[in-house]
Amino acid sequence: MNILLTGGAGYIGSHTYIALAEAGHTPVILDNFSSSHSAVLDRLLQISGKQVICEDGDICDRSFVEDVIKRYQVSAVIHFAAFKSVGESVSNPLAYYHNNLGGLISLLEAMDATKCRTLVYSSSATVYGDPVSVPITEDFPRMHTNPYGHTKLVGEDMLAALRVANPDWCIGVLRYFNPVGAHPSGLIGEDPNGVPSNLMPYVTQVAVGKRAHLNVFGNNYPTPDGTGIRDYIHVVDLAEGHVAALRVLQERGESFTVNLGTGKGYSVLDVVRATEQVSGQLVPIRMAHRRPGDVAECWSDPSSAQKILGWCAKKSLNDMCADAWRWQQHNPNGYSSC
Ligand code: NAD
Ligand code: UD1
Repeated sequence: MNILLTGGAGYIGSHTYIALAEAGHTPVILDNFSSSHSAVLDRLLQISGKQVICEDGDICDRSFVEDVIKRYQVSAVIHFAAFKSVGESVSNPLAYYHNNLGGLISLLEAMDATKCRTLVYSSSATVYGDPVSVPITEDFPRMHTNPYGHTKLVGEDMLAALRVANPDWCIGVLRYFNPVGAHPSGLIGEDPNGVPSNLMPYVTQVAVGKRAHLNVFGNNYPTPDGTGIRDYIHVVDLAEGHVAALRVLQERGESFTVNLGTGKGYSVLDVVRATEQVSGQLVPIRMAHRRPGDVAECWSDPSSAQKILGWCAKKSLNDMCADAWRWQQHNPNGYSSC
């Protein structure tokens, strides 16, 4: 099938591109490169051995999206394109509402007009806000603590309303926990702009010597070692989850919402130790204040994904750290050194 990947040049989109190509699909990337680098396209060619189809443009341009869907006879869309920085969403909320919700509306209108009504949507564990307990199941109350989280939550609501209005829509909502790691080739990976705000890229940048130490945001949480616990999931496992989601949407024609996580929680110090082990490098740490908005523990119950998609994450924390390290070591400045 020809599958449109909005934001397909980004971190999760590029790994999903490879998983789809390996499953025999033809992925078509639509990206405006607002937070990615065109050098990824050559890397995708190197890994897949196939010409990469990429349309450079904006999802907010509805007629352009419609044209792309028609030209490539797209059967389904995986919608990654969005801004994702929590801090930036607090300082510039309108940019987030415009891109994440305005962009989603534009995409959905283009899909509706072309009768391409099968969609996989990138949602996030952020929709659970501060969860009452762990592990988190899909029926937990949803809440938001920042504009980014609000866009994900409203995006989910818009899709639910669309399904009610027209049952032809077939939508898989995937709530990612903490995607980390990289393709084992070391050719594609996470390439954050500036100082990373997420843990794993910060840790690997310390390991490679780009940053002096990691600030550990809080060591007095009610967790075994006092640091925050998250459900880190290897981006290659996550990518496979998208292939499974598409298959289920196509075969059964039923919509669903599932967590994509491993069901295991690891602390900040667990991640530091595992990275030190796989890299052979020291990762100096300094204890710092808690980061506002952080929760003590956030990890999934992934059993719905197992039941509905027949999918489960396979890779270990060591795999995640080893692959993130390989990418970092071979590309110390991300794609900008290409
Ligand atoms: P990313 O920033 O690496 O990729 C997003 C891609 O979308 C980039 O290539 C960017 O250029 C493109 N894009 C943004 N706005 C666009 C627009 N208007 N038109 C066309 N292209 C546009 O992010 P990612 O980590 O790959 O995340 C993908 C999706 O998953 C996002 O929706 C994000 O909110 C969601 N998500 C990510 C995480 C995470 O930790 N990475 C966690 C939960 C959910
Ligand atoms: C963050 C976002 C969340 C988003 C997710 C994926 C916040 C409050 N939450 O989640 O909305 O969906 O990223 O993009 O920003 N840590 C450190 N030092 C660092 C960085 C992180 O100690 O330099 C700790 C954090 O306190 C946390 C853990 O590492 O305990 C993971 O942090 P991070 O990778 O930013 O992910 P989340 O906080 O889960």
